[in-house]
Amino acid sequence: MRLTDIFQKIDSNHDRYVRELKELLAIPSVSTYSHHRGDVRRAAEWVLNHCKRIGLEARLEDTGGHPVVIASRCPHQNRPTLLVYGHYDVQPAEPEEEWNTAPFQPTVRDGFLYARGASDDKGQFFTYLKALEVILAVTGDLPINVKILVEGEEEIGSPHLGAFLKKNRELLRADAIAISDGSQFSEDVPAITYGLRGLSYMQITVQGPRTDLHSGSFGGIAPNPINALVSILAQLKNPDGTIAIPGFYDTVAPLEPWEREAMGALPFSEEKLKAYLGLERLCEEPGYSALESKTARPTLDINGIWGGFSGEGAKTVIPAKAGAKVSMRLVPHQKPRDIAALFTQYVTRLCPKEVSLQVNALHGAEPVLVSRDLPQVQAAVRAIHAGFGVAPVFIREGGSIPIVNLLKEVLELEAILLLGWGRPDDGAHAPNERFSLSDFKKGIRSAAALFFELHSCCCA
Ligand code: BES
Ligand code: ZN
Repeated sequence: MRLTDIFQKIDSNHDRYVRELKELLAIPSVSTYSHHRGDVRRAAEWVLNHCKRIGLEARLEDTGGHPVVIASRCPHQNRPTLLVYGHYDVQPAEPEEEWNTAPFQPTVRDGFLYARGASDDKGQFFTYLKALEVILAVTGDLPINVKILVEGEEEIGSPHLGAFLKKNRELLRADAIAISDGSQFSEDVPAITYGLRGLSYMQITVQGPRTDLHSGSFGGIAPNPINALVSILAQLKNPDGTIAIPGFYDTVAPLEPWEREAMGALPFSEEKLKAYLGLERLCEEPGYSALESKTARPTLDINGIWGGFSGEGAKTVIPAKAGAKVSMRLVPHQKPRDIAALFTQYVTRLCPKEVSLQVNALHGAEPVLVSRDLPQVQAAVRAIHAGFGVAPVFIREGGSIPIVNLLKEVLELEAILLLGWGRPDDGAHAPNERFSLSDFKKGIRSAAALFFELHSCCCA
């Protein structure tokens, strides 16, 4: 059987695959930092050259921001086309001192490859390139057509990709899309994700006096922007942890009984999660389980706060300015734009008159639910079963992939296969991010199997 030959070859090539992935991981393609612009481009070029090397037609396209890599091999006129989406950009690596080995010096330890981007998402989308390479080497052909879209702005909200999609509808036309940019439910429990949360990311700046002031000379008359800011922030949530912004929950789709039942049946261990987080208690939403709260309910978190003096010792100062970043994870049918407006109205109302306030929406992502009842989804179930040795469970994820909703709408695609090869404890966005080498291998196997399964499901 061909798949057995392919799996054998994946095993024998494993060390080379890891060496290649390390090259890509060594490039610090941090999309949010302008001083890394050149590195981001270098990563795009690396992916471009790799696509060419494995026998795809490939090119870089400008988007107005970081470039996208477009590659394809479409030899069969009457067979389906799979579009594979991934991102070569990464989140910042700070705090770097928390890393056991440097974030951009990829290192293998105890069966894991450690580096920023190892799991999110370089290691995951790379599995498709290796799957294509091995299928071509073993069979000399591809069972279906393939198109690849790897972008460099996912971690900053994909600000230019929407316009690019709209302009290149025909170029990207496909029958299904595969995205591996998430995780399994837990170790050895692979999953197909059918829901992602959305996001509304806000920044608040409060301006007090024109300049920093001596808190003795001016304390008592000069308004303090940090005091104002924390009083605003403290009113964003109610004492029970629910969100206090008027109208915030109005469009939230309630969880259906079947879904709560299905979530309750997943092999979820709250004890293990608490141990991983180093917490004795979780703060789930009243009336919802921990799993529901972290994947299917909306949230509000302060991500950062600044102002005044926080260095060594004491400084008696009334600062001129203070600020905070606040993100809200959204669920269907909340709209990032509407939520940003509700947030702005509420915060403006809360702001004391003696200081001035600026509120900016930094970026957003639409929440999505994708169909589970499609032949392509069944093909993915079989592919994961072949690659991981067990059938996947169906889950919703708490993270966001901003472009998914637009891919669905602009390309009019129902078959969106969200197949995370990572694990929840890979440390995405955190120090010591890693990707299990066995997941890397199982991901390549599953990706290879998916091409054959899509051929049998949709060409009969
Ligand atoms: N890979 C993640 C999304 C993800 C995380 C999916 C966990 C499933 C489980 C992605 O790269 C990411 O981090 N996205 C950002 C998007 C934001 C910057 C607009 C996120 O969710 O914070
Ligand atoms: Zn990602």
